[in-house]
Amino acid sequence: MIPVPEKRVAEFEEKAFGMFIHFGLYSQLGKGEWIKHFEKIPDDEYNKLFESFDPSGFDARAIARIAKRAGMKYITLTSRHHEGFSLYDTCGLSDFDAPHAPNCRRDLIREFVDGCNEEGITPMFYHTTLDWHMRSFNDDFPSYLQYLRDSVEILCTNYGKIGGLWFDGNWSKPDADWEEDKLYAVIRRHQPDAIIVNNTGLDARGRTGNIEIDSVTYEQGRPEPMDREGMSKYVAAEMCCTINDHWGVGKLDLNYKSLPYLIETLCACRKLGANLLLNVGPDGDGSILPLQQYLLSGMGDWINYYGGCIYKAKPCGVKGEGKNFALKDGKKIYLFIHDLGIGGPAKEVCFTGLSGKVKSVRFTDGGEELEFTQDDDVLKVGATPFPYGKNGVVRVAEVDIIK
Ligand code: GLC
Repeated sequence: MIPVPEKRVAEFEEKAFGMFIHFGLYSQLGKGEWIKHFEKIPDDEYNKLFESFDPSGFDARAIARIAKRAGMKYITLTSRHHEGFSLYDTCGLSDFDAPHAPNCRRDLIREFVDGCNEEGITPMFYHTTLDWHMRSFNDDFPSYLQYLRDSVEILCTNYGKIGGLWFDGNWSKPDADWEEDKLYAVIRRHQPDAIIVNNTGLDARGRTGNIEIDSVTYEQGRPEPMDREGMSKYVAAEMCCTINDHWGVGKLDLNYKSLPYLIETLCACRKLGANLLLNVGPDGDGSILPLQQYLLSGMGDWINYYGGCIYKAKPCGVKGEGKNFALKDGKKIYLFIHDLGIGGPAKEVCFTGLSGKVKSVRFTDGGEELEFTQDDDVLKVGATPFPYGKNGVVRVAEVDIIK
C-alpha cells in the first residue's frame, strides 16, 4: 500500500515551485558561500565581513513579490549557513548575528517572514547543521547540538507560523549521532504543521531518513521515480538547483541556465510530482540581480500562459514518449508536449495508459482544438507547432474525458 500523505505534505507538494535564497556575509565577496573554506580565509579576516555587512538593498516584501510573479509559492531563506552567521536575532545564543552586525542592526528573518506573509508566500528556513564558526562543532559536539536545537527553537517560536525547516550539513559528519529525534521534536512541539527536510547532499540524492522528514532532496540533480509502496509514511520530493553554478552570489559566474532549460526542469520535476526549489543569490547588499529577476519572471510567464496546471495536477498512469508526459487533476488530463517549435504541420504525439473515452483535446494557451484518434488506452494527438509570434517551450494540452 502507498501511504496517504499527511495534510501538510500534500499541501507542500501542491506548492510545486519555490525560491531558494542563499544570503550571508559571503555574499559581499560575490564568490559563492563556500569561499571561506576554498580560499582558507582566517577567522579574523572573515570577521571583517561581519563589520561591513550592510544589507541596505534587502527588501523582503520586494523579494516576496518577485517570487510571486515567478509563480513560486514558498521561499526557503538561509537563516544560517555554514559560515555560522545568523540572519535572525539569536537572543543571546551568539552575537554573530544580523542584529549585532554594526552596519545592519536588523532582524532579517523577521522582515522576511513579514514580507512573505504580506504577499501570501510561505516562509521556510534553510538552517545549516555544519558550522565553521562555533568551536563546539569540533570540540564539544553534544553542546553544539544543544546550541543548534536552541537556535531552531527561536526560529520556531519568535516568528509566528512558518512553512518549515530545511537542514543541511549532516553529510559533513556522516558517522556522528546528530540526535535528529531531539531536533525534530523541538519543531513538532512548536510548529506541528512545519515541513521538515534534511538535505542528503550530492552523494545520496533521494534518500529517505528519519521518520519526521517530510521530503527527500535531489540537490542539483533530477528527481527519480520514487517507490512509495510499503513506506511507513508518504514522503514528498524536492529538487533544488542553482540558477548559474553558485548558491551564494557568484559575480563572475556567467554560466546561467537558460529560460527554456528552467521551464523544462520545472516540468521534469512535476512529471514525478516533485517540487522545484530554484535558487537566487542576492548581491552583497541583499538585492536580487536583474538577470536573475528576468529569468524568474519568464518562469512566471510560462506558468500564467498554461493556466497554473502545474500545482494541483499529479502524475497518473498516462505516459508520453521522450520528454512528453501527462498529469491529472480530477477528471482533466494535461499533456505536456515538448519540442514543437514554430510553424509547419501538426506533429503526431502519442500517449498510452488512458482510461475512459476522450471527448476533446485542446491547447490551454488559446483553446485551439486538436485532432486526435483513440484506440483503447492509446491516444494520438496532432499537436500543432506554435504559431509565428510565440514559443512557450513546453506546450500544454487539456484532455476532456467522457467517462
Ligand atoms: C550544499 C552546499 C551548500 C548549499 C546546499 C544547497 O549542501 O554545502 O552550500 O547550501 O548544497 O542545496
